[in-house]
Amino acid sequence: MSGEGGAVRGGGAAATVVTGIGELVTNDPARGDLLGAVGDAAVVVQDGRVAWVGPAADAPSADARVDVGGRAVVPGFVDSHTHAVFAGDRAAEFVARMAGERYDGGGIAATVAATRAADDDALRAGLRRLVAEMRAQGTTTVEVKSGYGLTVDGEARLLRLAREVTTETTFLGAHVVPPAYARDRGAYVDLVAGPMLAACAPLARWVDVFCEPAAPTAFDADEARHVLRAGIAAGLAARVHGNQLGPGPGVRLAVEVGAASVDHCTYLDDDDVDALGAGDTVATLLPLVELSTRSPYPDARRLLDAGVTVALATDCNPGTSFSTSMPLAIALAVREMRMTPGEALRAATAGGARALRRDDVGVVVVGARADLAVLDAPSHVHLAYRPGVPLVRALDLG
Ligand code: NIG
Ligand code: FE
Repeated sequence: MSGEGGAVRGGGAAATVVTGIGELVTNDPARGDLLGAVGDAAVVVQDGRVAWVGPAADAPSADARVDVGGRAVVPGFVDSHTHAVFAGDRAAEFVARMAGERYDGGGIAATVAATRAADDDALRAGLRRLVAEMRAQGTTTVEVKSGYGLTVDGEARLLRLAREVTTETTFLGAHVVPPAYARDRGAYVDLVAGPMLAACAPLARWVDVFCEPAAPTAFDADEARHVLRAGIAAGLAARVHGNQLGPGPGVRLAVEVGAASVDHCTYLDDDDVDALGAGDTVATLLPLVELSTRSPYPDARRLLDAGVTVALATDCNPGTSFSTSMPLAIALAVREMRMTPGEALRAATAGGARALRRDDVGVVVVGARADLAVLDAPSHVHLAYRPGVPLVRALDLG
């Protein structure tokens, strides 16, 4: 997206000063408060990176100038958890849930069947449409998982497609046990940790598992540990789906293997919170899932008070969260999860970056990627205060 106010994009090294920023959220701890906010600020962007940050009065001159007219500027959102490569939808399942049915992961098989039947062009078109939706709502970094192929070739295909839009690709062969393996789960776990991993590891940065003994087709702690350890041995870093449908071993397993993140965290006991507080695994909360499954929301306050790093993400997928909206996730976190607007924004930016072990996104500091989101609002608070309103006016200025 290009800048506004008549800024001219220069050649490789041309610099643009973005000025007239009413509130700049930097997430820079050196600036003191939670969001590292600067009032009446400017940012200089050069070669797609932040070259200078500070009060507008001190801004250096540059080749071009963009005045954002007193609006707030925040780091682009980091959506650290999506399943955005799939075919079909599950609207009927959603309707049934709104009428009282429970989510147990059983619908994943329908998306696997639709995805296997779709050709690459159809999957690519669906993925690109979702990524365009994300960008329009301020997301500048996205993670994308496989998990709807569940064969060696099917999982590798989804990761190849995901790599067309992001470097943050996640091998999720251990999403569910396909029906053909229902009587021999061990054979499927061996397939995932063996030939499927061998084909997928070169295409992925991360390995993930759906560790949820309460779900009939998901994986117990031993199965999940086996897959995660194999993934780590193959050079991938770990993340875990855990504690979504009930209390369980997912959180502690994630901490045990040094996972970057454990995602969902809907049902936590004191030991889970203590384990997260003592380790450096991020708790990634997915409130759009609770919205779309009628589950109780996780208690972010309890985690924050225990010193846990919290991230917010969409979990965009056709089953539990067919939404790409980080602003809506922020609004729900504030309304339902006892987060302040500042904490929720931080979790959707710097928290997501931490969940992906990235220090070049989610912040506006010198050297970071210039992923700036200009809001049609005077402050970040409006992200939660004006739910459902498209407030992102521009991205990637300069
Ligand atoms: O993160 N829980 C497991 N996986 C997804 C849902 C996938 C689906 O239902 O298609 C999740 O919620
Ligand atoms: Fe998920």
